[in-house]
Amino acid sequence: MDIHTHADAHDLRHHGDAEVRDEKLTDLAVNVRTNTPPEWLRERIAGSLTGLAAYPDGRAARAAVAERHDLPARRVLLTAGAAEAFVLLARALPARRPVVVHPQFTEPEAALRDAGHEVERVLLREEDGFRLDPAAVPEEADLVVIGNPTNPTSVLHPAAAIAALARPGRTLVVDEAFMDAVPGERESLAGRTDVPGLVVLRSLTKTWGLAGLRIGYVLAAPETIAALEHAQPLWPVSTPALVAAEACMSRAALAEAEDAAHRIGVERAHLLAGLAEFDEVRAVEAAEGPFVLVRIEGADAVRDRLRGLGFAARRGDTFPGLDRNWLRLAVRDRATTNRFLQALDQALLMLG
Ligand SMILES: Cc1ncc(COP(=O)(O)O)c(C=O)c1O
Repeated sequence: MDIHTHADAHDLRHHGDAEVRDEKLTDLAVNVRTNTPPEWLRERIAGSLTGLAAYPDGRAARAAVAERHDLPARRVLLTAGAAEAFVLLARALPARRPVVVHPQFTEPEAALRDAGHEVERVLLREEDGFRLDPAAVPEEADLVVIGNPTNPTSVLHPAAAIAALARPGRTLVVDEAFMDAVPGERESLAGRTDVPGLVVLRSLTKTWGLAGLRIGYVLAAPETIAALEHAQPLWPVSTPALVAAEACMSRAALAEAEDAAHRIGVERAHLLAGLAEFDEVRAVEAAEGPFVLVRIEGADAVRDRLRGLGFAARRGDTFPGLDRNWLRLAVRDRATTNRFLQALDQALLMLG
């Protein structure tokens, strides 16, 4: 485990969407579930449009989120995606020594830096399977950010290992944007009130295909929620987004997400089995999210070849702790994965 304090050449503001914006490619770069939003959800959102003349009223959505996690509403804050929450946390919470556990989604660090913080990095290593060693986090860190399951490694850390990072006077931020893609949401800390300083971030944009709508939420102690809410502009979450949030908390929606999570597990196993056929490819096997991280010597050139063959893979080199030899691949349906594996075979041959 290494600790770094200096900003470096990693482009923290690069995201998978940039890899699919301008060309018609099969998208393995963005981790939004395919064939979403489902029709019933589109209808609910469309039905909200008649109410657009009124200012948003977040009470029902907040209550629905609170009920889903068995928490009081004062422990819930709705946000314009998890992305808004990173900015609120960076701006509103006091932190003298913030630490981000990498490789992980880069926006939390970018938001902290933009808010004027000097950010320390704890780098998890491939040799350790990118697993968390709680002892690697400096004792003095008063804000710790970790993803679970982690983007891009797909590693699901044990809830107990994360909870062990809690300290009096420390804010412990757990980004659970992909937790609803894990069957049973095992290892989730959402709903826990016994972990001091715990802040759980959730997103509804991945599983439900609402990246363009912007909806997520924060679960934390009432004082923390109040501080974050104070930093929000008025009406940050639109009426259609609030309606979507409420709809996604229903029993039927949760059952649909659970079903999708199981299917992702099956398709991920298929992808990993296919990748294992290539001597040149090493996948992080402990994958539990809707994507896998792979190491290929010269992955940047492989990625270029794949683009020529019609497939967008997410570059790995913008993630602190990774370099040009890594790619992240979204888990897709079997037919798409099979086509991708053939393209990968070709790409590797061309370079071989
Ligand atoms: C790990 C992780 N957290 C949060 C986000 C942001 O999610 P949202 O769309 O809810 O802002 C992303 C988006 O890519 C992500 O990968």
